[in-house]
Amino acid sequence: MYVLGINQHHDSAAALVRDGEIVAFVEEERVSRVKHDGTFPARAVRQCLAIAGITLAEVDHVAYFWQARREVVHALRHFVTHLPATLAVFRNDAGTYGGRSAGLGATLRSDGLQSHSDDYHVGGALLLHLRRSYMLKKILCDAVGHVGPARFRVHLVDHHLCHAASAYLLSPWDHAAIITWDGIGSDGTSTYLAVGEGDRIRDIRRVRFPHSLGALYACVTSYLGFHPTRDEGKVMGLAAYGEPTQLAAMRELVRLLPDGRYELDLSWFRHHATGKHQMSAQFLDRFGPPRPRTRDAVPQHYADIAYGLQVRLEEVGLHVARWLQQHTGQTRLVTAGGVALNSVMNGRLLLETPFEEFFAQPAAADDGSALGAALRVATDHGAPRPTGNYIFIGPEYGEAEMEKALADAGLTYARSADIADTTAQAIADGKIVGWYQGRMEAGPRALGNRSILADPRGKDTKDRLNAKVKHRESFRPFAPSCLADRAAEYFASGYPSPVMLLVFDVLEHQRERVPAITHADGTARVQTVSAADNPLYHRLITRFDEITGVPMVVNTSFNDNEEPIVCTPAEAVNCYLRTDMDALALGPFWTQK
Ligand SMILES: [Fe+2]
Repeated sequence: MYVLGINQHHDSAAALVRDGEIVAFVEEERVSRVKHDGTFPARAVRQCLAIAGITLAEVDHVAYFWQARREVVHALRHFVTHLPATLAVFRNDAGTYGGRSAGLGATLRSDGLQSHSDDYHVGGALLLHLRRSYMLKKILCDAVGHVGPARFRVHLVDHHLCHAASAYLLSPWDHAAIITWDGIGSDGTSTYLAVGEGDRIRDIRRVRFPHSLGALYACVTSYLGFHPTRDEGKVMGLAAYGEPTQLAAMRELVRLLPDGRYELDLSWFRHHATGKHQMSAQFLDRFGPPRPRTRDAVPQHYADIAYGLQVRLEEVGLHVARWLQQHTGQTRLVTAGGVALNSVMNGRLLLETPFEEFFAQPAAADDGSALGAALRVATDHGAPRPTGNYIFIGPEYGEAEMEKALADAGLTYARSADIADTTAQAIADGKIVGWYQGRMEAGPRALGNRSILADPRGKDTKDRLNAKVKHRESFRPFAPSCLADRAAEYFASGYPSPVMLLVFDVLEHQRERVPAITHADGTARVQTVSAADNPLYHRLITRFDEITGVPMVVNTSFNDNEEPIVCTPAEAVNCYLRTDMDALALGPFWTQK
């Protein structure tokens, strides 16, 4: 039984599950080369089918990540509840900052394949979604050029159930508490509390939009001059440079309620009225004008606001998680949704609540809802839960294509007898190395198959990486990949973090040894690497440890700033040549400048 999962949102993606096991997961941006591509994931679907060696004719079920009819009910209720403020959605430009929304006319004329905007669906995007859900079979067949019979049934799955399934059904546990959190789901849910029991997921509580931690973070991200729904990670990094000068004021934005709930104080916001990520005039009076979208250095005042936002998010997250733990008695927590990418909060959820265990899968945000939709429908139809690899499930390319990419670029290269050893030696010698191996990892973090690697001991490594390769904001930290059984020597917790979604303090006496991975506030977003997860990458770090005595390397994604992570060997070679990387390990092949 084949189940194809589809998400069309900020990060469109497709997933293919066969008899419960993941065959492939592909994010559209990796194939289209448009970062955060939100168009219909036709290329990703084609890749998934190609990896399985099947056509749409052999697919039994298509699982879609959204229920547009429930969205309509929520949107109407929301519109009436918040009148007259919501009349602002009828103006095409409802704001003092942020982008313009698509008008109703443009939406109705569209073909169902276009992206919706990053705004909430209070305008024409809602109609687009509704049209897509009724015509999905035709849209999908047209998009991949399928002619002939297609027997698949379409299933529209509740968005937060997709998130919950993506985390819980991939976890190794048959009992766990579940929290999913994002901006908004199909029925307006923004925070979903549930418990997993066997294959079942049982609802406990929902918090609904406009009360939303994702919306809170996105609105302030936009105010701080970054792109909402994309740059929240930058704001999390920026927060480490902030002081608590604005914390008390930022606390007023969210009230904690009994029973694990919370609500936004809407007097500070406009998102519920305009559908855009905007703060209110009251907020601007209190905190000053929004920072323009610029790459200039961030003034301290805005770093302080980022700090206040981040701390308040963590406080609310702890409040929600502690209640759920007490209510369910579970000791294991699984989490997903865009807010689950906040690895600083995740670290605190593990260390500062009675939860003893933590699980997230790498595509925690909306891209992973394609996978969750497919897994939910598969298990509903009797398939077992997956037991295999859930990280390295993307496209893979053979040695012939790697050699062709190197030869096409006119590069001199050689086959290394031990590419892990060659690479470890080069990193220890101070080189910055592109590392391209095997199947692409799922999600926004490079996890050791499409990575740029460097020496964590170098005081100048971070600046060199930024200046020569990544060309990104200097306040963003670089993360370590550490041998799993050595992590406790360096970090406040040695808890497994295979998908880099936990931030821990670097132990104070070790910070001098690994300055390149220690952030301004003394923390690190840790990836732990075991031989079971990724034997080749584990061997590379083991060799680096043998040479240097340090069991970790700097791991940043194999791409230039604002470019999707490289997918094919040709893209890896192209990125290597465009940047000042010193060497490239492309499968078993080694080339250096
Ligand atoms: Fe979501």
